[in-house]
Amino acid sequence: MSDSIVVGFTVNGRRREVLTKPHHTLLEILREDLGLTGTKHGCELGECGACTVLVDGIPQLSCLLLPHQVEGKEITTVEGLAKSGDELHPLQEAFVEVGAVQCGYCTPGMLLTAKALLDENPAPSRQEIAEALSGNICRCTGYESITRAVELAARRMEV
Ligand code: FES
Ligand code: FES
Repeated sequence: MSDSIVVGFTVNGRRREVLTKPHHTLLEILREDLGLTGTKHGCELGECGACTVLVDGIPQLSCLLLPHQVEGKEITTVEGLAKSGDELHPLQEAFVEVGAVQCGYCTPGMLLTAKALLDENPAPSRQEIAEALSGNICRCTGYESITRAVELAARRMEV
C-alpha cells in the first residue's frame, strides 16, 4: 500500500497509530479503523453535526478532517465522555432524564458540542445554548428537550 500513511493521535486518553490513506477522513478512521461507531455518519458535507468530536477540546466535524490535520491531537469521542463504564457524564444523564434522545442519531454530536460549551461557559443562557448547538441538526426533538437537558446538566455540574 504505497500511498498509505500512519497517523498518530490520542483518542479518549489512549495513544493510537493508524495505517490509513491521506484522503480518509477522521470519521472513517474512528468508525472503521478504531471501531468507535458512536461518532455518527451523516451528511459528510459538514452540514449536520452528527460526526462532531472534540479536537483539543474544540468541537470539530470529523467528516471534514484529514489525517494530517489531526496528527498529534487529543480527540474525544462520545465513548470517552463517561468517566467509567457504569457512570454516565452529567450531560448524558440529563439527556436521558428529560427525554432529549429519540432516534439518538444526533445525540453524540450534541453531547460533545454541549460539553465544549459547558467547559467554556458553565452557566450558559438559553440563547447561548441555542447558538452553540446551531450546527447540530436534530430531526426528532424540536430542540426544546435538548436545551433543557443542557441547562439541567449545567446546574448539576456547577454544584
Ligand atoms: Fe459531518 Fe454531517 S457527517 S457534518
Ligand atoms: Fe433523532 Fe436528534 S434524536 S435526530
